Order: sequence, then structure tokens, then C-alpha cells
Amino acid sequence: MSEFVQLGSVNERPRPPRADELQLQFSDLAIAELNQLLTHYPDKKSAILPGLWIAQREYNGYLSGEAIAEVAYRLERSYAEVEGVATFYSMYNTKHAVGQHMIEVCTCLSCQVCGVYPLAQYIKKKLGINFGETTEDGMFTLHEVECLNACDRAPVLQVGDQYHGPVDEAYVDRLIEQLRTSDVNTVTQMADCIVKVQTGPLTEPTSPTTNPTPTAAKRGRLKVDATG
Ligand code: FES
Repeated sequence: MSEFVQLGSVNERPRPPRADELQLQFSDLAIAELNQLLTHYPDKKSAILPGLWIAQREYNGYLSGEAIAEVAYRLERSYAEVEGVATFYSMYNTKHAVGQHMIEVCTCLSCQVCGVYPLAQYIKKKLGINFGETTEDGMFTLHEVECLNACDRAPVLQVGDQYHGPVDEAYVDRLIEQLRTSDVNTVTQMADCIVKVQTGPLTEPTSPTTNPTPTAAKRGRLKVDATG
């Protein structure tokens, strides 16, 4: 997306993309969410991270150059500045499009001890893909990730904005089946959460509580549905 990188002279600051240069357009819901978010920050620059998160959710889990440009436009930052942030953090998917559901498998120490390697093999075989790949039907992308900071629930998977743990093969079967049969509304509801720790049966209704796990609470960004 070099067309958005305005080099200019040494004395000229790169400019934000203009509206007529954009190739994507946030939904009204995403615009409202971003505007609401901006009320929490002293300036628009401070909202780059959550703004990118909204864009990633808005565009099916993939931050293309066009998506990054839209965030830059809405936050009045240069494309290069926003791209630099997006490519720094591994939780933003900037390299390639992903499946409808991203399954991220933590393979760090606690999850290793609790059997994530054989579980990961089971998931790979079930989906017919390796880490870093997407199923042929475009439904699932499988990623290996570092510690999700929910070690007390090892082994832990992250699917979209939800944490699942501890999981076993039977849970994986139910989870994948539920994801396969989710309609768009269900997926949207899942994406509405920032992060959830799913502790109860997948089919049970969930309700907010104020009892986050200690490690999760430390991150300061977990909404916990403790139904187990
Ligand atoms: S080691 Fe897996 S969540 Fe921490």
C-alpha cells in the first residue's frame, strides 16, 4: 500500500489518507464503536490499537492495507504510522486473509505440561491443516501462539475473542461443530466480546460475572463468563 506512504520532503510530515483514497468503508456500527471509543482518549492517536482491533473484526479477521488505511484516515494518522503499529503486534493479521474462525493454540509451558501437543495434533488432523494454514472451505485458520496469560486454564485455545480452557478432544469436537453451524448472528455476538473465558458447556447461556481469573484480571482486558 505504498500509495498511502507519503514521503514528502524531510520537513514534511506524512499525511493521513484522504476519504477519496479509501477502498473500504466501516459499517455504521463500527463507526459508532470507534467514535464512542474516542471519547475515552485524549487524542485520536491513542486509539490506534483498539481502532485496528475494530478494523480486524470488521474485515473478517484480516488487516489488509486498505483496512489499515481506513483506520489511519479515521484517526488522522499517516498510513505508515498505523501500519507500523499493526505489523508490530502478532495479534493483528496483516500477512494474509484468514478463515472465518481463527483457532489459536497456546503451546507455551503450562499448556505443554497439560498436554497441548497431542491436542494440537488432534486439531490438525481433525481440520486437515497445519499451523499457519486455512481449511479449503475457508472456515478455519489454525495458529500457534505464545502464552495467552490464562495458564490456570491450560491447555487454552483462543477462538476469535474467546478463550476456551481447559480443553480436551471432546471439547474441541463440540467447539468445532458449534463454529461450523454458527450463523452470522452468533459469530457477530462472539465478536462483540473483547475477550471471554468460556468455562461452562458451550451450549449454556452465559452471563457476566465479576469473578475474573487472577492472571486474566491482571491483563485488565478480560470479560469473564464463568458458567462452569
Ligand atoms: S502457557 Fe498457555 S496460557 Fe499460559
